Amino acid sequence: MKLDAFWMPFTANRQFKKAPRLFARSSGMHYWTAEGKQVLDGVAGLWCVNAGHGRPKIVKAIQEQAAEMDYAPPFQMGHPKAFELAEAAVALAPAGMNKLFFTNSGSEAVETALKMAIAYHRVRGEGQRTRLIGRERGYHGVNFGGISVGGLVANRKMFGTLLAGVDHIRHTHDLARNAFTVGQPEHGAELADDLERLCLLHDPSTIAAVIVEPIAGSAGVFLPPKGYLQRLREICDKHGILLIFDEVITGFGRTGQPFAAQTFSVTPDLMTVAKGITNGAVPMGGVFARQAIHDAFMNGPEHLIEFFHGYTYSAHPLACAAGLGTLATYAEEGLLTRAATLQGYFADAVHSLKGLPNVIDIRNFGLVAGIELQPIAGEPAKRAFNIFLDCYDKGVLVRTTGDIVALSPPLIVERAQIDQIVDTLKGAIQRAA
Ligand SMILES: Cc1ncc(COP(=O)(O)O)c(C=O)c1O
Repeated sequence: MKLDAFWMPFTANRQFKKAPRLFARSSGMHYWTAEGKQVLDGVAGLWCVNAGHGRPKIVKAIQEQAAEMDYAPPFQMGHPKAFELAEAAVALAPAGMNKLFFTNSGSEAVETALKMAIAYHRVRGEGQRTRLIGRERGYHGVNFGGISVGGLVANRKMFGTLLAGVDHIRHTHDLARNAFTVGQPEHGAELADDLERLCLLHDPSTIAAVIVEPIAGSAGVFLPPKGYLQRLREICDKHGILLIFDEVITGFGRTGQPFAAQTFSVTPDLMTVAKGITNGAVPMGGVFARQAIHDAFMNGPEHLIEFFHGYTYSAHPLACAAGLGTLATYAEEGLLTRAATLQGYFADAVHSLKGLPNVIDIRNFGLVAGIELQPIAGEPAKRAFNIFLDCYDKGVLVRTTGDIVALSPPLIVERAQIDQIVDTLKGAIQRAA
């Protein structure tokens, strides 16, 4: 097969094309490579296949929809499944977050939420609130808004000056105080006060919104210290700033509740989702909004568009069908709370890696874990990449960011499969020493 034409995303293209890793088939907890090798999925594809692969309800819903109606324009027109899916999804969301705006990816959900926040203030007569605050080491997708509020240097440095009027609060990663904590770290709630510092610098009346991931995933699994998210909420309330949770990874059951907002008992004003909304089967994202945010836009003559934003493929029929099949599968199998049942077993398993060579931290919550490794001197990211390749060779898919290995298995994972993932990783870490 010719591999030349496809410029692959977030991939070491030259390395890949010398030794390609091609998946050809998937079912349940597994992939099969083009050569027929079985690979246990330790990362739900890319944090998205929460119900496992090839689930019958989802497959059937997509097949039937493709035959029934391929496409319907989402501007000034609708189709029933878009409304059905929005109703079903808001029923899972935190109380009061009862509007859902559809996008096609997490990155688009982030752009949408940022624009919604700025426009919300404007329609209320506070058009001076234009600043956006992100957090260091945050990941909010790859579009210009998302990398501007994001805090990953590699994703930002090549792309010029980004959005104006963006600032960042400090990240919460603190190896000195929190290394090897099981679950939420004890130390660091006070880091939320960094938002007060930015309020002093910019004046809160210029700030539209703060965006954070409740648990940072792609950047390396960073957990919110106990009390941190509550503190952020209080500061936002005090100053009239909107709080946006980016739940693209944490949404749809990863933390043991449908959303991390519920797990951590903090309700944001806007909440971005993607990935698990369709179990990864068809691209889709969305922004949940509080009723009051939506209602602020509902003024002016009724024949005029209230929010000048949307995508050709917003609420695409195939995605809506996949979403309905996905939510039905989650409900029937109790998957959105299964991580809470398994988290003790998962925590014990991943923390058993403590003491292995070069393991400098282990973090976990629900069914997500990060194992941080000491980088090879002068060769950052190489140790973790070698471990990723070794695990793949031994039949387990893990994911790495820098020198952090992340695990986020489908929520259908069995205990024996958790053992297989962790045992395989253990061998790879030992061989990478
Ligand atoms: C928290 C968060 N936001 C946004 C995104 C971007 O989503 P997408 O890749 O679907 O654009 C991701 C992807 O991993 C994510 O983890």
